[in-house]
Amino acid sequence: MKKLVVLSGAGMSAESGIRTFRDSNGLWEEYDVMEVASIQGWRKNPELMLRFYNERRKQMYECQPNKGHLLLAELEKSFKVQIITQNVDNLHERAGSKKVLHLHGELSKARSSVDSSLIYPIGDKEIKIGEKCKKGSQLRPFIVWFGEEVPAMDLAIPMVESADILCVIGTSLNVYPAAGLLHYASQYCPIWLIDPNPPADLPKRVNVIAKGAGEGVAEFIDKLRHER
Ligand code: APR
Repeated sequence: MKKLVVLSGAGMSAESGIRTFRDSNGLWEEYDVMEVASIQGWRKNPELMLRFYNERRKQMYECQPNKGHLLLAELEKSFKVQIITQNVDNLHERAGSKKVLHLHGELSKARSSVDSSLIYPIGDKEIKIGEKCKKGSQLRPFIVWFGEEVPAMDLAIPMVESADILCVIGTSLNVYPAAGLLHYASQYCPIWLIDPNPPADLPKRVNVIAKGAGEGVAEFIDKLRHER
């Protein structure tokens, strides 16, 4: 079976009702990213940040995987599929995808604020001020904030390097190092990109499907079938 690697971003979950960040009416139009999604913001106002992620965690459980998530899970019958997602929601998993690597963390987990290896599954529960890890420090969302390293890149890069096909879905490719992943695809690996408003100046080799995730993944699967 060929190895299909998918790199997904916020647009993957847009049709499930989860807001993206940089579209009009995106999250970063309403919130100051440095106040709610950076390590500096955590040091300045942890209560505000806990509230921000408690709201997003609650909303995530009110949403369902969309057609795009379900089609990708289905593809596991005919490809070795590895999802690499920038998203912190669990919609790929809830759609049935078995191999999902989260570059920017997961809303359904908390972690120690002094030891990133202390991770606690919390499901849809809130994280409150005063809740502590076993080392006595405040629990924080298991999210990679601006200003922090992205340790999962060490796993993600070899996944893309060994891909037979790479499909990028619903990301503005604005945020590094995640956005740099597509440059690790081998010269023999076709790259597809699904986005209704594709990012500008993509490398010439990228095949663009300018549609939303649901319709776009369906078209992508058609093309895979005709190429086999
Ligand atoms: N289907 C597919 N793509 C869509 C859809 C849709 N229905 N709706 C919007 N999009 C596309 C937009 O055109 C845009 O290119 O999804 C992309 C969303 O881009 P961003 O909002 O920038 O989200 P993302 O690229 O995932 O952001 C990367 O930035 O703030 C950080 O950590 C956060 O992981 C996030 C990172």
